[in-house]
Amino acid sequence: MSQFERPNIAAMQGYSSGEQTWKKNTIKLNTNENPFPASAKVQAALMEFATAELRVYPQPTADKLRDAIASHHGLTRDHVMVTHAGDEALRLAITTFVEPGGTLGTTDPSYSLYPVLSKIQDAKMHTLALADNWSIPGEFTESMAKHNAQLTCLVNPHAPSGHLTRLETIETIAQNISGVLLVDEAYIDFVDPSLAYSTKDLLSVRDNVLVLRTFSKGYSLAGLRLGYLLGDPELIKPMLEKTRDSYNIDGISQALGLAAITDQAYAQETWRQVREQRQVLGDALSKLGFSSPHSEANFLLATMPEQIDAEGLYEALKAKGILVRYFPTPRLKDKLRITIGTAEQNQALLTSIRQLITR
Ligand SMILES: Cc1ncc(COP(=O)(O)O)c(C=O)c1O
Repeated sequence: MSQFERPNIAAMQGYSSGEQTWKKNTIKLNTNENPFPASAKVQAALMEFATAELRVYPQPTADKLRDAIASHHGLTRDHVMVTHAGDEALRLAITTFVEPGGTLGTTDPSYSLYPVLSKIQDAKMHTLALADNWSIPGEFTESMAKHNAQLTCLVNPHAPSGHLTRLETIETIAQNISGVLLVDEAYIDFVDPSLAYSTKDLLSVRDNVLVLRTFSKGYSLAGLRLGYLLGDPELIKPMLEKTRDSYNIDGISQALGLAAITDQAYAQETWRQVREQRQVLGDALSKLGFSSPHSEANFLLATMPEQIDAEGLYEALKAKGILVRYFPTPRLKDKLRITIGTAEQNQALLTSIRQLITR
């Protein structure tokens, strides 16, 4: 450790990302990527991109892409800020709205990057456990207010359970907390369209709400690092004009993001297939004795049948070239989070699980 590190940095652990592998035959069901490739229009935009354009700096605020995102959501450019994926959006929100020594609030469990970002900011973290059915407990708002959370982050649909919180609940929370509410909608694209709503629908009435979106999951672009925030223009402004890196989105990402978001037909077809496979995989796992809460995301949180050890199954699957996610925490240690793959990947997973648990 260097003597020059700030004490809060010296004392903290870094974020531990899900295992990444680039081995060809691995079936990767551990970090919730979309199993389908990005739109052919993204590939075409990449081929058309002239490297000569890289000689000069990119448009600093990614305005063409902001306009496309705004039009997609029925908002104005001023409601949108493009970020270096969801993770930068979170870092910016924390830097901008939570003072060192201030409090960041969320549920437990939640996205494990939140506590890491809060430590970098030298802020405190206040968490409240989700109910047994993964819903937000009634006392959540009061608890956040009591701890004076300057920023409260909710994941909806929730990770790692897939539970979807109703818009009315989110609105009540937004109305009654004193700080900013950030709703992390990294997985919203996979919600059944009959339930489709987004916290963005609250932006016309709430000035303390931010919505996080990412191209990593729904648009199959986790490797690009592109996301965005939606919010009241006054909330977006300090991040856009003060705390953001001057050229946070490179020119290639701006061009590819534009191609991706304007090809809704393609993206939506991948979401439909993921939903279909979510049902197929959930039913098959349930026949094998696994139970999972209803998920509106692109993963299932599967509780092991009796006698099956989650960590052991995770390791045995890994030895067969199938990666799923195991969290060694008290509430999650008897479960595996499984990303929905293609039909072939899910069948390969099921075949391996059958072999391993019936031995
Ligand atoms: C809940 C949640 N929010 C945000 C992100 C950020 O994703 P990205 O930085 O790839 O946009 C993730 C990634 O796994 C996530 O699970």
